[in-house]
Amino acid sequence: MTTFYVTTPIYYANSLPHLGHLYTMMVADAVARQKRQQGIETFFLTGADEHGINIERAAQRNNRTPQEQADYVVDYFTKMTAAFGLDTAHGGYDIFMRTTAPFHEEGVSEFWRRVAKAKTPKGREALYKGHYEGWFCAACAGYKTEDEYASPENSDEPPTCLVHETKLDRVSEESYFFRLSDYDQALLGLYEVRPDFVQPEARRNEVRSFVKGGLQDLSVSRLRSSVSWGLPVPDDSAHTMYVWFDALTNYITAIGFGNVQQERAVGFEKFWPALHLVGKDILRFHAVYWPAFLMAAGVRQPRAIVAHGMWLDPAGRKMSKTLGNTIELDVLNRHFSIDAIRYFCLRDMVFGQDGRFGYENLIDRTNSDLASGLGNLSSRTLTMIQRYCDGRVPAGNISEEARLLAKRAGIDADEESISAFVEHARDEFIRYCAGFGFSRALEEAWAIVARVDKMISGAKPWDLAKDPAQQQTLYAVLYRAAETLRWLSVLLYPVMPNATREIYGQLGLTEDLAKIDPRQLKWGGLPPGTQIGEIKALFPRLDKAKIMAEIKGVDDGAVARPAQDSSGQATETDAAPGAAAPAADQATSPTVREGSGQHATEADAVKNETGDGLIEITDFAKVDLRVGEVRSAERIPKADKLLLLTVDIGEEKPRQILAGIAQYYEPENLVGRKIVVVANLKPRKMRGYESQGMLLAASVGEEGKPVIATFAEDVPNGARLK
Ligand code: MSP
Repeated sequence: MTTFYVTTPIYYANSLPHLGHLYTMMVADAVARQKRQQGIETFFLTGADEHGINIERAAQRNNRTPQEQADYVVDYFTKMTAAFGLDTAHGGYDIFMRTTAPFHEEGVSEFWRRVAKAKTPKGREALYKGHYEGWFCAACAGYKTEDEYASPENSDEPPTCLVHETKLDRVSEESYFFRLSDYDQALLGLYEVRPDFVQPEARRNEVRSFVKGGLQDLSVSRLRSSVSWGLPVPDDSAHTMYVWFDALTNYITAIGFGNVQQERAVGFEKFWPALHLVGKDILRFHAVYWPAFLMAAGVRQPRAIVAHGMWLDPAGRKMSKTLGNTIELDVLNRHFSIDAIRYFCLRDMVFGQDGRFGYENLIDRTNSDLASGLGNLSSRTLTMIQRYCDGRVPAGNISEEARLLAKRAGIDADEESISAFVEHARDEFIRYCAGFGFSRALEEAWAIVARVDKMISGAKPWDLAKDPAQQQTLYAVLYRAAETLRWLSVLLYPVMPNATREIYGQLGLTEDLAKIDPRQLKWGGLPPGTQIGEIKALFPRLDKAKIMAEIKGVDDGAVARPAQDSSGQATETDAAPGAAAPAADQATSPTVREGSGQHATEADAVKNETGDGLIEITDFAKVDLRVGEVRSAERIPKADKLLLLTVDIGEEKPRQILAGIAQYYEPENLVGRKIVVVANLKPRKMRGYESQGMLLAASVGEEGKPVIATFAEDVPNGARLK
């Protein structure tokens, strides 16, 4: 293999990406870096899926044109990939593909024409015109069969998508169909001949039984009059291509299929076939539809389709925008190092299975594996080299005469036992990574860390240093530790590019880790006499209570509870004196604090009166709850938790309301949303802005994440909640 091509899915440009999206990119990035280290010319694709009704609707909601909507999301996306070191400038992806690129349209048109000319394995036309009648989920961009939706109790209502819990659209119109039903045997043959085509094996079995169950022809176009934001069907512009047909083809148009520009710049022949990394939720599109399209067009099959599991919230629900339980990238970026996030995601999630994401776990793992583990090994080793060897890597050999002394200190005179251990762990690491077993691979690497830590603790270099006769033993211990760090830097570079470069530099080494093949490492390669670099802490210990308090913006019991005024409304400035109060720019939210704080105080107050915690209806009637519509939303400079909203609650002028939800909601996603407003709260000033009410939100999970209360049906602004 001299070239390698890896892809992530291209992400819908309807909303901003979250951790679930970033995950595939981090995996692809680690894979690409590993291949590059091995000297394989690698092309890594990620990008945005910009067409379809989903993007059209998001654009409408945000008062943008579809292109503006796509540009907006892509802009955020590329900024985030840069912040996470995944972009080209940081040695990450080679192309951020956009399906609105003119060369893509050229390539897809060619692909469509080829399919249109093709005959199926049963000798019929692969593409035909027919009439589609059924249900479509805009969020999935997929047609739904009866077992994929929930039927409503009221038969006038449309059914709901089981994935997104949103209403389906009825489609009844002329459509082009791809004759998928003729491809079942060919697909089953493919899975048989190439057992690695779909990975992991459990997913391959799923796909096989799906195909064995019989395939239905697939509608691959919509009338332009119903979906206009998409590529026109070649030679029939009354139809728009089905967004998945358009999107899947990006994998080949990006490298030059059907267009000269990309062929020259990248090279289809050079890089195809690709390894497609996807989430298991979109496996069918990649492992059934895409191979069938490729068969029809006469294009070679991908190298493999590899599916990972889903990130779930601590309660076990899939993290998604629709459910409002996502981990936002800017929050992660603000509180954690990129390498810690990458390490955590690859170590904690067993590839292929689902994993739960909790900030606490991320902090715990960072502290145990990185701060106390790798980081500590690196700093103690380098500090001792500084102290006992004048900052130069010592020679590691032990002479005949000194062997007995070394043995007495518990150190093997020859290096073989440690070098064999490290070599074996390196081989296992590479083997596991090749099968996407990153979690196991990292366990192997951390077995090396543990082994060397044990050697150091057993040998006690600080005692050896007091005995001149033990100088060789001392030097041997330090050499072995430093040499191991060199190996770990090379091995772990694809997972933690920044920290490993740092360790490598602190060891006094200057080669580019991106170009060192771990398979070529030879024990003893670290030249004695190397002047080590400046020693810096790699992973400072994270203060869990402080970070959690900053993220939540609420008292979690570990820090002082912010004071509250008589209305129970928390203010920005009233954190208890001397407490680990949130920093000024992390002003806590009325919503979040009130979600927990106000509830507690009011309930307590009531308890005192009636003794049973129950209230009279008249008590409840004191709260004026109104339906509001968010007219505008923006961030407040230097207050990273607060959003400034204007909300129409049916009054002459919209209300200005401050809400502490900035870490969980993107302002533009709120515009047009119906919410519940407490309309008769005394106005309060925060950050120089008056808040004329409060919005209601559920406080979810351990983190107390706000999830805004909203309505499933259309309701007029100002309607009272009773
Ligand atoms: N646009 C299509 C893909 C077209 S590829 C030719 C799409 N986009 S998506 O934005 O909805 O999802 C992109 C990827 O993000 C999918 O692989 C999906 O599995 C992944 N994830 C979205 N939420 C996720 C989690 N909670 N956890 C892990 N991955 C998740 O589908």
